[in-house]
Amino acid sequence: MKKGELAVLGAVALLAVGGITRVALQHPQAQDREIPYYSTAAAPLAARAGDLMREQNCRQCHSLWTSRDPTQSVPAPMLDGMGALRSERWLFDYFSAPDPQAILPSRLKREYRHPSMAAMPEPDRHTLAQYVASLQVKDWYLDQTRRLEHDKLTGDDTAEK
Ligand code: HEC
Repeated sequence: MKKGELAVLGAVALLAVGGITRVALQHPQAQDREIPYYSTAAAPLAARAGDLMREQNCRQCHSLWTSRDPTQSVPAPMLDGMGALRSERWLFDYFSAPDPQAILPSRLKREYRHPSMAAMPEPDRHTLAQYVASLQVKDWYLDQTRRLEHDKLTGDDTAEK
């Protein structure tokens, strides 16, 4: 490589590093902002719940960590952030109900509806409830989502941001 080329490469590299540093300094949460979901579960709980969710094929219908089984198309609510919506108690009751649709009505075809997990051992239902309740969403994302929804419903984008 010629000297001139090296100098150009060096300059480009410096610019890139500088740019990244600047973005990071200006937006301390820049990285946070990419993934608004997180879990407060300790590793053993997450691992055990992961096994149960694989056994029960939750991802056949639900997305988790924004991914799901790409071959399926059941319009189930995503599990990311679910703990911001439902308590552990509510989740345990929902998973334990012989008829979950008595708690949360469904307009879907029967085969798409959330299946009853009443037959699972009680400790497993607790594990699932505990884990799903640990799935949280960052405040800035909730605020942003609410604001966008408000603007869409009211046609008002002049409201205080
Ligand atoms: C056959 C598809 C299917 C499977 C498998 C499934 N679900 Fe569901 N789930 C749904 C649908 C659809 C809903 C929305 C309610 C309905 O239509 O019955 C739902 C609702 C829920 C809700 C309540 C959502 C809310 O808005 O309050 C939770 C929590 C949930 N599921 C968790 C799970 C977990 C955890 C598993 C695995 C252990 C699982 N689901 C397996 C389809 C499924």
